[in-house]
Amino acid sequence: MLKPKVLVTRRVPEECLDLLKPHFELEHYNKGTAIPRKRLLKSVKDKDGLLCLLTDAIDPELLAAAPRLKAVSTFSVGYDHIDVPACAARGVAVTNTPGVLTESTADFTWALLMAAARRVVEGDAYMRGGKYKGWDPLMLLGTDVSGKTLGVIGFGRIGQAVAKRAGGFSMRVLYYDTRRAAPDAEAALNAAFVPLDELLRESDYVSVHTVLDEDTRHLIGDRAFGLMKKSAYLINAARGPIVDEKALVRALKAERIRGAALDVYEREPKMAPGLASCRNAVLAPHLASATLETRVKMGVMAAEGLIDGLVRKLRSPYRVD
Ligand code: DGY
Repeated sequence: MLKPKVLVTRRVPEECLDLLKPHFELEHYNKGTAIPRKRLLKSVKDKDGLLCLLTDAIDPELLAAAPRLKAVSTFSVGYDHIDVPACAARGVAVTNTPGVLTESTADFTWALLMAAARRVVEGDAYMRGGKYKGWDPLMLLGTDVSGKTLGVIGFGRIGQAVAKRAGGFSMRVLYYDTRRAAPDAEAALNAAFVPLDELLRESDYVSVHTVLDEDTRHLIGDRAFGLMKKSAYLINAARGPIVDEKALVRALKAERIRGAALDVYEREPKMAPGLASCRNAVLAPHLASATLETRVKMGVMAAEGLIDGLVRKLRSPYRVD
């Protein structure tokens, strides 16, 4: 019997390919950069399934170019790059990788927060630059973390895992989401549900964990920076466009907030002009889920998603959540 044809759009862990190989005839764009759009549109023409990344837009143009497509599995928890209603209208199943990257993403959010608050990156550059001339009571002073207030925007799996870690720092935790969490989750995490403006006014650290959609695009912009404390930090390991990056550069340069730590950008891999020269910003290249263990789990889950869709023919419900 002929095997279904699948396109894998990027280099992925071997464990992912090992799962796919027995079931599918694979075309693999085995590179560390995004597959060019033209090549993607050409390659999907005869494919039954697609294992894609957040850098591949799965939109009506792609669906039109892929008449045989039945399943799309994204190697990510986020699926804002996929037009899910358009896929549903075409009967294309969509799956993602929720759950397996929650802890590594929450860990990295804390790495960002701590690096910004305690000026770890500046300290590293100071040492390497030969500037350290001995202990000084006023050198590279940061901001306390313990006992401060953490504001979590988006209280899903990752937001809650970030909040959980705040307990170890004896922090007050505020959260905002469009839906209030169950009382037992609030109690377990010692987290208080507040309106967004109150969270922005009260928090020493504002950490973004919401999905990107039309309601959250530029949720954090000039107005939000105007409400935040001058001593506050913004952390974003969710999606770049939730923060108006030009407004952030203005806020950092004018010291309307004390600092920011970012893992994601509005127009990845680019950054807004001026961001790279902001001394009070810690900048990482979308690393939050980048541990060996997590990326293997994501690869396995993404492969299983395609096998579910094309071999086991589990079409509903879609796993995207
Ligand atoms: C995702 O999975 O959506 C991340 O952004 C990459 O881990």
